[in-house]
Amino acid sequence: MSPQEQQRPLDVLILAAGLGTRMKSQKAKVLHELGGRPLIAHVTRKAHALDHRKIYVVVGHQAADVKAAVRREFGSDANAAAFVTQKQQRGTGDAVMSAGEALKDSNSTLLVLSGDVPLVRVETLQKFVDYHRASGAACSILSVKLENPTGYGRMVRDASEGFARIVEQKDATPEERLIREINSGIYCFETAKLFSALSEVKPANQQGEYYLTDVPAILATGGEKIAIYLHQDAREVSGINTCADLAEFENLLRRGTIRGLMMEGVTFIDPSHAYVSAEAQIGHDCVIYPDVLIEGDTVVGDGCVIRSGSRITNSKIGTNVVIKDHCVIVDSEVDSNCTVGPFAHLRMNTRLEEGSAIGNFVEVKKSRVGRGSKSMHLTYLGDATIGEQTNIGAGTITCNYDGKNKHETIIEDNVKIGSDTLLVAPVTVGSGSMTAAGSVVTKDVPPDSLVAGVPAVVKKKLKNRDK
Ligand code: UD1
Ligand code: CA
Repeated sequence: MSPQEQQRPLDVLILAAGLGTRMKSQKAKVLHELGGRPLIAHVTRKAHALDHRKIYVVVGHQAADVKAAVRREFGSDANAAAFVTQKQQRGTGDAVMSAGEALKDSNSTLLVLSGDVPLVRVETLQKFVDYHRASGAACSILSVKLENPTGYGRMVRDASEGFARIVEQKDATPEERLIREINSGIYCFETAKLFSALSEVKPANQQGEYYLTDVPAILATGGEKIAIYLHQDAREVSGINTCADLAEFENLLRRGTIRGLMMEGVTFIDPSHAYVSAEAQIGHDCVIYPDVLIEGDTVVGDGCVIRSGSRITNSKIGTNVVIKDHCVIVDSEVDSNCTVGPFAHLRMNTRLEEGSAIGNFVEVKKSRVGRGSKSMHLTYLGDATIGEQTNIGAGTITCNYDGKNKHETIIEDNVKIGSDTLLVAPVTVGSGSMTAAGSVVTKDVPPDSLVAGVPAVVKKKLKNRDK
């Protein structure tokens, strides 16, 4: 092969227009999530990591959502992928054909991937592309051998073990169904040759579809070379077709993530019952109890203990934090040496500062709790800013919503909010003050004052702090 041929740029085409009937779902298959991200996002991320020119994604079913999922994966890099639309889902060959306009005259090598094969590794794809470029073939097919090849297209080899054709499960004879070597659905093509052969594909098969898998045999008949790359790790390139496959992959991915964390010094009391996203980070000497979920980009610092039944999503946890049983922490920050729970709920940019504590049945929304402050029982803190060393008594409620708008509550340093206090926002409780049990605070409380009653009025000055 000439050096020019070896240097053809690589384009990537990802097929993602199908509904995925075997999922028995309203949702397009490639939108189902694995490790908290849609399948299509996994595949596009792998493609993007290759040395490539352009990524094309074929969309059809729920095209808008599939496009959105791809765009989310690439963030601000809006040009990272282009989309082509397959109007009717008439098979994988037809799906590739729908990219004809964009690609057919292109002097490139085309890597074809399926949106439902999420675990394939970048190194495997790179090796496969290198193999194809060195082979001088018009098409290379990545195959694997499976114990149970049911459902896949089988690789039929000729007398000299070379490529003969691919036969789909539904079209295969009983003998062909015994073949264990299957087509992974990952191919490299010389782009122009692919599109000239595609025009010869006919839907003359059991499913009445245009099969991409007919293209290699058409090329071979025309005298082109077809190469087969037999890959050893079958798991990595197997596709997701059913919810059972999805659960199996989830389990595989999760076990890999948790094994990696254990190697980095995280203790899991029962690794088979912990759920940690691949993006999350967990520090050394953390102890994670059974049935904990750590989702999204959560970061947990060193030495934390997370007890059973807690879920932490897209949050930042400092060092030596204790999260007791059954807490929900979403989009929030918990600084070092805090304790949370049991049964606490932190959400919407809540921030617990160093050494503060939130206890039993306390919900904290979009609030800041200052250093060393505590709210231990049966409380709602919403849109509140709480100073340092303040204690919020049991049953306190910030009444932040007047039926139309949300209002803020400010509770300054060294305050003691008595049990069952209602703080009708907007309202400020000055530093050093105290509310008596059962107070309904409707007006700002000056510093160092004791208020009581409904509505609460100042009963006495606590001490003279003016110096
Ligand atoms: C396909 C292969 C089969 C291979 C298997 C590997 C064909 C005919 N068969 O079968 O040989 O063993 O993959 O996983 O290619 N798609 C479209 N438009 C369509 C149809 C499908 O975009 O009209 C997309 C799907 O969204 C999916 C991919 O192509 O991402 C594969 O389609 P699927 O129906 O899953 O093919 P298989 O039956 O698994
Ligand atoms: Ca498939």
